[in-house]
Amino acid sequence: MVFLNGIFVDKDKAFVSVMDRGFLFGDGVYEVIPVYNRKLLKPIEHLNRLQKSLDSVSIKNPYNESEWLDILIKLMSYSVSDDQSIYLQITRGSDTKRVHTYKDLKPSIYIESNILKTRTKKEVSKGYSAITMKDIRWDRCNIKSTSLLANILYSQEAKKANAEEAILHKNNVITEGSTSNVFLIKNGVLFTHPAGSKILSGITREMVLESAKSINIIVKEEACNLDDIYDCDEVWISSSTRGIIPITKIDDKLLNNGVVGKLWKGVYEDYLQYIKLLKS
Ligand code: PDD
Repeated sequence: MVFLNGIFVDKDKAFVSVMDRGFLFGDGVYEVIPVYNRKLLKPIEHLNRLQKSLDSVSIKNPYNESEWLDILIKLMSYSVSDDQSIYLQITRGSDTKRVHTYKDLKPSIYIESNILKTRTKKEVSKGYSAITMKDIRWDRCNIKSTSLLANILYSQEAKKANAEEAILHKNNVITEGSTSNVFLIKNGVLFTHPAGSKILSGITREMVLESAKSINIIVKEEACNLDDIYDCDEVWISSSTRGIIPITKIDDKLLNNGVVGKLWKGVYEDYLQYIKLLKS
C-alpha cells in the first residue's frame, strides 16, 4: 500500500499525471523517515524540515502535524516489517501546460514505506570506503529537493568504484556526501561542515552532534579542507537510512590503517541506545 493524494492504494495502481511538475521539472521536496519497531525516529524534526523545504519553494503544506502523523502511522501499519523507511514527497502539482512559471496548484503527495534493512554492528565495524568528487551542486542544498540529478551521478560513481559514498568538496572544502553528512575527527575534535545553504542539515547529523557532546567529544561545526580528509584520525558519514557509518578508505588511501576509530564506536553505541529505546 502507498499513499497518493489522500488515499491508500496498491502501488501498482498509483499513478500521477504526466503534467505533474515533479515529473516534468523535479519541482518538489521530500523526506526520508526511518521507523524502528513501528515507531518513527525523530518525526517532528523531519516534519519541521519538510516545512522548511516547502517554505523555501513556496509550496503550501497540505497537512498539519497531527494529520501527517495519522497518515504515517496508518501507512506503517500496512507494512509486514517493524523496521521501515518512509519516503514522502510533495510536488507543486499538475498544470495544463509545461511552463517553467507556476500558478497556485494542488500539490501532489506521494508516500511509500519500504523495509529498512539495518546493518549489524559486526558489519558496520568493518568500515567502508569512499571516493571524493567535486561538488558542483547549486547553493540551496539545504532544501531537500527531489531535483537530485547531481546526487544521482555522484552515487552512481561511488557504486562503480565499489564505494559506500562519494564525499564532495567545493572550493577545496569538504561539504557532505551524495546522500549523507560527513564528519572528520582530528586529535579528538569532531569537525563537520556548518549548516547552511551548502549542505542538507541531516536529522542524523544532529543526533551525531548530540551523542558526541554527551561523551565529551569537542564538536566544531567548521569546514575542513579536502587535504584534511586524508590526514585525519577518523571519518564518518550519517544518514537516516544508514545511521552512522565509519569510513576507513578514501580514494584508495587507508585511514588509521583501515581500522575503525574508537570515537566512532562511542558515538555509534550512543546512537544504538537511542534506537534500542524505540525497540523496547
Ligand atoms: N538522504 N545530505 C544529503 C545530500 C542527503 O541526501 C541526506 C539524506 C543527508 C542526511 O540527512 P538525514 O540524516 O536527515 O537522513 C545529508 C536521504 C536518506 C535520501 O535521500 O534517501
